[in-house]
Amino acid sequence: MQLKHSVALITGTSRGLGFEVARAFARRGARLVVTARDPEVLARAADAIRRDAGGVAEPDGVLAIAGDVGDPNHAERLVRESLRRFGRIDVLVNNASALGPSPMPTLADLSPVALWDIFRVNVLAPHTLARLVLPAMRARRSGLIVNVTSDAGVEAYPGWGGYGASKAALEHLSRVFAAELEGSGVRVYVVDPGDMNTQMHREAEPGVDLSHLPAPAAVAPAFVALVERETAPFGRFRAQRLENEIGRAVS
Ligand SMILES: NC(=O)c1ccc[n+]([C@@H]2O[C@H](COP(=O)([O-])OP(=O)(O)OC[C@H]3O[C@@H](n4cnc5c(N)ncnc54)[C@H](OP(=O)(O)O)[C@@H]3O)[C@@H](O)[C@H]2O)c1
Repeated sequence: MQLKHSVALITGTSRGLGFEVARAFARRGARLVVTARDPEVLARAADAIRRDAGGVAEPDGVLAIAGDVGDPNHAERLVRESLRRFGRIDVLVNNASALGPSPMPTLADLSPVALWDIFRVNVLAPHTLARLVLPAMRARRSGLIVNVTSDAGVEAYPGWGGYGASKAALEHLSRVFAAELEGSGVRVYVVDPGDMNTQMHREAEPGVDLSHLPAPAAVAPAFVALVERETAPFGRFRAQRLENEIGRAVS
């Protein structure tokens, strides 16, 4: 799939990885629907994306709609407005994520309310958005759903239990979606971006110097490569080792 003239709906787009993936897609000529909860920060991010992609992206090619992806009404609005403005959605990137309380409590101290909120954003929202974009993708026999995960979904890090369990659930949801979509032309990928110096990571490890970690801008090109290269209908990729992993997935 070529990003030029394609339409991508990317969640969690006002900062961090989502913002950088949106910027990288816009530079390739993609049209975008971007979302995050804080409307002012989102509007500034959308302006920066438009400015940065000037000359490549279409002038009206970035649609910003603020809201909480865990709210099903917001999810429906995102997809409805995307289809109204652009007529289709080629790529869905479920990037927005909830970490839970900071500092991160052990599972014994994690309240059910906090755990529910983590699952609402990290599992239910990606499922809802995937359900909403799938009918049009299936009809066109083309589409790509990228769910952003974490090694915390695989490794048992103390304190990361709620977030990690939600990412494990997201990964399995993705695997089953892919199995059910086999032959439909829709690909489903899980991407672990690896450790990055972002607000979420700083909240996960308050007071720890993370300046040695890669910036999300260094990771975003891996998402471009994933969209633009044809690989298997399902894959779990670590963005910081993508070249290797795409090679393996294809062979
Ligand atoms: N940073 C790392 O080291 C790391 C490692 C592995 C995986 N990841 C994954 O990478 C992804 C991006 O994380 P990041 O580090 O870039 O985080 P970040 O810098 O904190 O950015 C998160 C973005 O998501 C938005 N957001 C959060 N909750 C939302 C909600 N309920 N509805 C809509 N938007 C929401 C935030 O804006 P608002 O607050 O205004 O809503 C912001 O735009 C996540 O899936 C995370 O799990 C990160």
